[in-house]
Amino acid sequence: MELRKEIEDIKNQFKKGESAIIPALHKVVEKYGYVSEEGAKVVADVLEISLDHVISVATFYQFFKLKPVGKYHFQICTGLTCMINGALDLVHFFNKELGVKENEVTEDGLFSYEIVQCIGCGDKAPAVLMNDQRIEGLKVARLKEMIEEFRSKEGKEPS
Ligand code: FES
Repeated sequence: MELRKEIEDIKNQFKKGESAIIPALHKVVEKYGYVSEEGAKVVADVLEISLDHVISVATFYQFFKLKPVGKYHFQICTGLTCMINGALDLVHFFNKELGVKENEVTEDGLFSYEIVQCIGCGDKAPAVLMNDQRIEGLKVARLKEMIEEFRSKEGKEPS
């Protein structure tokens, strides 16, 4: 379904356009993988609110990305407990093995990462969110296996 139509349907479920911003932004992410400018403009237009307001809402919530991310986006906790249990090893893996810095996407479009603070599972550190999935006690060896599994699933050659 066209994005505009989907956002109109969302708008019709709410009394005020303002209340529909977050579900509408989720639709944009479903379509583009992030909050694209084009998508944000459709949200502003359909909900009859300013583009600045739509962007400010998207910026406020960490789960909305304003730039493209990999299909498999990792949020790596570098809170104290995760840090002393090897979180930086995961960051270095992305930097050295996958050749990407924070918020960059691998050439195949599959992987990206960002650093976050405590996500509430420091007893099984280091903790990571991979898209919506929480992964606890993630070590480099397992991360490497996961990357290869995802590459294989997506029909990409192992590195
Ligand atoms: S310190 Fe990493 S999840 Fe809390």
